[in-house]
Amino acid sequence: MSLIKTKINPQSESYQRNYLLMKEKVIELEQTMQKSLFQGEEKYLERNKKTGKLLARERIELLLDLDSPFLELLPLAGIGGDGFGVGGTLVGGIGFVSNRLCILTANVGTIKGGSIDYPTLQKNLRISEIALENELPTINMVESAGANLPDQAKIFNYGGTIFREITRRSQKGIPTISIVFGNSTAGGAYVPGMSDYTIMVKDQAKVFLAGPPLVKMATNEVVDDEALGGADMHSRISGVSDYLAVDEKDGIRIAREIMSFLNSPEKEKVRQKIIEPLYDSEEILGLVSADVRIPFDARELIARVVDGSHFSEFKSNYGSTLVTGYAVINGYQIGIVANNGVLFSEAANKGTQFIQLCNQNNIPLLFLQNITGFMVGKKYEEEGIIKHGAKMINAVSNSTVPAITIIIGASYGAGNYAMCGRAFKPRFLFSYPNSKIAVMGPEQLSGVMEIIQRDAAQKAAVVYDEEKGTFIKQKITSEADKQSNAYYASGQLWDDGVIDPRETRNYLKLCLEVIHNTEIKGADGYGVFRM
Ligand code: COA
Repeated sequence: MSLIKTKINPQSESYQRNYLLMKEKVIELEQTMQKSLFQGEEKYLERNKKTGKLLARERIELLLDLDSPFLELLPLAGIGGDGFGVGGTLVGGIGFVSNRLCILTANVGTIKGGSIDYPTLQKNLRISEIALENELPTINMVESAGANLPDQAKIFNYGGTIFREITRRSQKGIPTISIVFGNSTAGGAYVPGMSDYTIMVKDQAKVFLAGPPLVKMATNEVVDDEALGGADMHSRISGVSDYLAVDEKDGIRIAREIMSFLNSPEKEKVRQKIIEPLYDSEEILGLVSADVRIPFDARELIARVVDGSHFSEFKSNYGSTLVTGYAVINGYQIGIVANNGVLFSEAANKGTQFIQLCNQNNIPLLFLQNITGFMVGKKYEEEGIIKHGAKMINAVSNSTVPAITIIIGASYGAGNYAMCGRAFKPRFLFSYPNSKIAVMGPEQLSGVMEIIQRDAAQKAAVVYDEEKGTFIKQKITSEADKQSNAYYASGQLWDDGVIDPRETRNYLKLCLEVIHNTEIKGADGYGVFRM
């Protein structure tokens, strides 16, 4: 390599003249850039402040790592046009969040309700192109009245690309997180709707296809905006929201936490610092029910197994009989799926979604089985409990990240299948000594047999022999009980060992070491989900 010898003479007249001209241009640029900082008229800024809301740029600043730069993209989009102004109603750029490079966008809700004019749409599409080409996760900070209605003809057709691209990135393992701070109406509702993770801020986020006035016009239904599309409703009932944030800062904190669990490029993969659980593993003996008929909270067990007892719970208010979330064990990330009661449709859908997310991010799965099965009855059959359970079984079957299953209580019926039982090939499967594994509990099994035999006797017009019936029932109960016992199961090789519950963390530590011997690669696709 040789040194370039400069021929520039800073004292020359041509240099000096050019310098002044260029300086003027730079000052002009600085002044123009100022216009892109406009965040709305005084009345809207005032209104925003009164309601305790942050502005778009303040949200970005809080979301970024403290020492992160922010490479702002397309700040002058729309300049000289007849849209909503310089930069449109979206601020977007690249920066670090939880040490991950990602795209950050924020709707400027204080200009025209954050509605999207034509340049803003174009800006949005270009940013999403950058996200795809460079495989950057995206965090959207959402507060938008959807399409700029007077401009709708120009926006409508290509507007759909925003939603198409979110899901295409997801398919390629590039996730999108949306934090909804305010209104997200009509087309805008599909931004959180299509995202991999959605956080909604309590009392602020309002997400619906049509607001109360349009609903009244369309169907004559009278409903307020909170009941129609509030954060609480979407977190508890519809499941459109995965996390309910108590306020804006909490929403930003949750997004940062999710980002810390997302799949990182190979070069960034570092094992995290190991922190022992805060609680004593001895307490596991007191909290896991010896009698599988007595429920216990799986989170109590998780707290005694995972690093620092820290658990980032996913969809905690929805489908609450299944606990899902991320944790770290011995420095390794893991996605946990644990039963906290019978499986309802919502819980099955939540499990399906979470298993897919772990595959998207190449995170191994830990199933903690304590399941009496899927909910039975007319109401549940009508709502399609079979197809919802089938979706979860589909997700487990086609999941390609390694799984570890521990039977910590009951393992009955299709619950065993959906929770990655032996037939679903977890890399390791262990049982606690209290556990029971069977098609159903012994009392239910013998009770069903009794009903069948009574019906058969009635059909054959013979008298049901009570004494013989009681004898058979007792025999079936005791046989089923014996065959569902953990030791019987282990003898049949239905598990890889019965373990002391206090040793759970130690078993998992070693299994995770083993699992990480091979590349962990999530599924690219699944069988067709029955909807
Ligand atoms: N297109 C164009 N302008 C819109 C707009 C839209 N979709 N939504 C709101 N605006 C404008 C308002 O006309 C007002 O303009 P102004 O500053 O010139 O007076 C400004 O945005 C603020 O509106 P405001 O209603 O006060 O905001 P808000 O934050 O209180 O309420 C909404 C926001 C979203 C609840 C409400 O504006 C709304 O329902 N908008 C229509 C949403 C819709 O149906 N969109 C269809 C998208 S496909």
